[in-house]
Amino acid sequence: MIMLNFINGLPVLARLTAAATLLVAGVSMGTAQAAGDVDAGAEKSATCAACHGVDGISQIITYPILAGQYPSYLTHALESYRDGTRQNAIMAGFAGALSDQDIADLAAYFASLPGPLQTAPRD
Ligand code: HEC
Repeated sequence: MIMLNFINGLPVLARLTAAATLLVAGVSMGTAQAAGDVDAGAEKSATCAACHGVDGISQIITYPILAGQYPSYLTHALESYRDGTRQNAIMAGFAGALSDQDIADLAAYFASLPGPLQTAPRD
C-alpha cells in the first residue's frame, strides 16, 4: 500500500520506472534462497537413507517418506528442526549439522525422486 501511494504521487515516466524497479526487485527476492543441487543432495543423503529409505521411500511407518515431497516443505521442515521450532530429538541431531546449502540440496534431491506421496503440482 505504501509503495502504491508512493508510485501514484510520481509523474508518469517516474511511475513506470518505479513500477519496473519494484517488479525486478520482486523477482530477485523470489530467487534469493539458495538454489538446491540435486546431485549434491544425493551425495549428502547417505546418512538419511538409514531411516528414510533408499531413494527417500521409508519402509518403516515412523520414518516419513521424503521422495516427491514439495521442496519448500522439506526446506521448511529441516530449518524448523535446526532452529528448534519443530522438536524431534532424532531430527534435531541431523538437521543441526546442516548448512543452508545442504538443506537446499537435500530438499531438491528428495523432491526430485518419484514416490508414493500425492502432491498436487505447484510452481
Ligand atoms: C535415525 C533415523 C533418521 C535419520 C538418519 C534421518 N531422519 Fe529425518 N526423520 C526421522 C524421524 C523419526 C522423523 C519424524 C520426526 C517428527 O515426528 O517430527 C523424521 C522427519 C524428517 C523430515 C520431516 C518429514 C515430514 O514429512 O514432515 C524431514 C524433511 C527429514 N526427516 C529429513 C531428513 C534428512 C534430510 C536426513 C539426513 C540428513 C534425515 N532426515 C535423517 C528419522 C531420521
